[in-house]
Amino acid sequence: MPSKIVLIGTGGTIAGLAPDAANAGQYQAAQLSVQALLQGLPGSDAVPVEAVQLAQIDSKDMDDAVWRALLQACHSAMLNPEVRAVVITHGTDTIEETAWFLQECLGRLPKPVVLTCAMRPANALMPDGPQNLRDALAVATAEAGLPEVVVVADREVHAARWVQKIHPHRLQAFGSGEQGPAGWVENGRVRWAYAAAADARPDYCGEQAVQALAQAGQPWPWVEVVTSHAGARAELIPALLQAGVQGLVLACTGNGTLHQAMEAGAAQARGQGVLVWRSSRCALGQILEASPAAEAPPASALSAVKARVSLQLRLLGL
Ligand code: SIN
Repeated sequence: MPSKIVLIGTGGTIAGLAPDAANAGQYQAAQLSVQALLQGLPGSDAVPVEAVQLAQIDSKDMDDAVWRALLQACHSAMLNPEVRAVVITHGTDTIEETAWFLQECLGRLPKPVVLTCAMRPANALMPDGPQNLRDALAVATAEAGLPEVVVVADREVHAARWVQKIHPHRLQAFGSGEQGPAGWVENGRVRWAYAAAADARPDYCGEQAVQALAQAGQPWPWVEVVTSHAGARAELIPALLQAGVQGLVLACTGNGTLHQAMEAGAAQARGQGVLVWRSSRCALGQILEASPAAEAPPASALSAVKARVSLQLRLLGL
């Protein structure tokens, strides 16, 4: 069995430092190298780890270039017979989008891809990053697992499709809505909540995604999330069309409804050949039947930010 873990650092609070360790609410994300996060981590020498510093950013600033490099690194690891799994350290703010991007691009995984993060900086009095990183390594080396990209935080394992950041500062900052976690990490052992469905994912498709993104121009197609809300303005969608937007995800009220002031703009977008998808602003559940049906994203339970990723990939030919 291949033994090596590729540990990819991208920044985030897990690599953050606070000027005053007692005041961990004030800090700078993305300060420590991923190698430094590993140093002294109990149990980390049980498996060989190759640390790669792929980026060093606050994940609110995530962009196409980092995603493309991350996909390439994951794909190389999937092909490398010496690699057992990939673990990625990431900021909490957009981890669900990166997880979903990788899931959509890679399809059914031949090896684990595990993202982890932290809510407190590395030098906080009681940081959560070391435990999360240990747990992520445990999930990456577990005997059984899901063939899906997962996020590990606060002792829970969440599948990329469902995971959402649900709290701005608590340690338990992630949830998987009605689905619940995919598993738990208990004393270094993983207990899965559900088994992988045999046909849960399409086959591995990393090569196809890497090729498509290598050929894609920069920046990638512009897909915007437009939220329907009280007092919505009719001018917004036409202004986006005028500016060259190429896809729209409507974060709709309730069961996929749109403020009447925005309907003409949505129709104009459709008329111009701009793909328009609807998702719901609701935290739980999914739209029963998107109307018009053409505006239903393939996975209607997707949050607006994940539907945006899927639509962008669709426009890139994936
Ligand atoms: C970030 O997302 O990079 C900063 C916030 C965090 O990691 O909690």
